[in-house]
Amino acid sequence: MRIGILGSGLMGGKLGTLFARAGHEVVFSYARSQAKLKRLARIAGDKALAGTPAEAAQGADALLLAVHWSRFPDVLQQAGDVSGKIIVSCSLPMNAGNTELVVAHTSSGLEELAKIVLKARVVAAFNSVPSEVLFSVYEGRRRAKRPSLVYCGDDKRAKVIAATLIRDVGFDPVDAGPARIARYIEPFALLVAQLAYEGEGGPELAYRFDRRGK
Ligand SMILES: NC(=O)c1ccc[n+]([C@@H]2O[C@H](COP(=O)([O-])OP(=O)(O)OC[C@H]3O[C@@H](n4cnc5c(N)ncnc54)[C@H](OP(=O)(O)O)[C@@H]3O)[C@@H](O)[C@H]2O)c1
Repeated sequence: MRIGILGSGLMGGKLGTLFARAGHEVVFSYARSQAKLKRLARIAGDKALAGTPAEAAQGADALLLAVHWSRFPDVLQQAGDVSGKIIVSCSLPMNAGNTELVVAHTSSGLEELAKIVLKARVVAAFNSVPSEVLFSVYEGRRRAKRPSLVYCGDDKRAKVIAATLIRDVGFDPVDAGPARIARYIEPFALLVAQLAYEGEGGPELAYRFDRRGK
């Protein structure tokens, strides 16, 4: 696939590199310096390029949205028309200090995104994983017991693409249901962050769901 990265920071930079290593074409966009985007593309290999958000969106089979909540309007305006595009969002609706969710319980960042990009096909994924864990999971991706990664959304085809990308990065995709389930995934992501950074788990923490009983 051709994947446009909107936001090439900790999450976008790492996921974009892993998508390229898994064989996808990747366009890194949206950082404060063009040099950084070029460096990411060089490290990610032959399948990766640096570009503008509009170039990342053009011809993309999927877009990864990986910017702070406050940057949504700017990056989407720069991306241009995203009608019909699959947007996989790993972003969380956080305040400026990243201490609290600014949307919760009755809506979610994903549902609010869907209202901004009415004609796009949105999925939430990767937002419950600390960026530090991504490379080690990718390197261990042939293990039988992979860590789980939940995703949700209302568009079936978009969810198939998201599940493929989740698998390519070395996780076991767990379909959590429709877009409204993001209301529960987003606070869950903060629990994972709490355990990773403030508990004893360390940032390498990754979780696995096992079915119990029937
Ligand atoms: N980090 C994690 O472990 C993690 C895990 C799960 C979910 N998330 C979520 O993923 C989203 C992104 O997080 P992140 O940690 O990847 O953030 P980040 O490292 O700050 O990345 C954000 C990207 O946006 C770019 N950017 C910010 N302001 C800009 C501007 N004015 N013009 C152009 N580019 C600009 C940054 O540029 P520079 O590269 O130049 O700084 C960076 O590339 C957030 O919603 C976060 O809640 C993060």
